[in-house]
Amino acid sequence: MTKVAIIVGSLRKESLNKKFAQAVEARLPEDVEVAHISVDLPLYNDDVEMAGVPEDVQAVKDEIASADGVLIISPEYNRGYSGVVKNALDWISRPYGDNSLNGKPVAVAGVSPSPLGTTQAQSQLRNVLLFLNTRIMGQPEMYVDGGRFFSEDGGIHVEAEGMLQSYVDAFMNHIKQ
Ligand SMILES: Cc1cc2nc3c(=O)[nH]c(=O)nc-3n(C[C@H](O)[C@H](O)[C@H](O)COP(=O)(O)O)c2cc1C
Repeated sequence: MTKVAIIVGSLRKESLNKKFAQAVEARLPEDVEVAHISVDLPLYNDDVEMAGVPEDVQAVKDEIASADGVLIISPEYNRGYSGVVKNALDWISRPYGDNSLNGKPVAVAGVSPSPLGTTQAQSQLRNVLLFLNTRIMGQPEMYVDGGRFFSEDGGIHVEAEGMLQSYVDAFMNHIKQ
């Protein structure tokens, strides 16, 4: 059994990035177990960590540590990735010396309602993930223009189908390497 942890960096109910995560999940092989990682965590605070890692944070760290691969799907806010993702990564990297992402195969993706499709957010995210010593999937990249990707009926456009399945297959291969 392969376990994939999915982090979506939006708290919004109708989030495009959540919709994209669902589309990815639906295309994973049947024997893949998915852990949905909550980013609705307390703001990182060294004092809180010193007093004891909060239970919800520890639960996230444990899910990540036991995953074979991690997928991070983030919106772009002001040309950066979302604050809740950064906060989650900061917690996941702590306490010092206990980075739950160390050596993990990771892929990134992101959706925005624009043709740029989170390029700058993902570029920043990749830098941080390098520092966190993850094994980042280089290709294919996945910059999603929500308007062109999702169809009116709530699914995805036929033209996007091949691109999405290639991305999912590459991620599964990346995990196995
Ligand atoms: C504070 C803020 C800043 C934003 N900055 C960008 C941006 O730099 N680039 C972009 O493509 N979209 C930007 N957007 C639009 C978001 O991509 C859009 O709201 C998107 O739907 C958020 O993702 P979600 O649907 O998963 O919540 C911004 C939105 C907000 C609220």
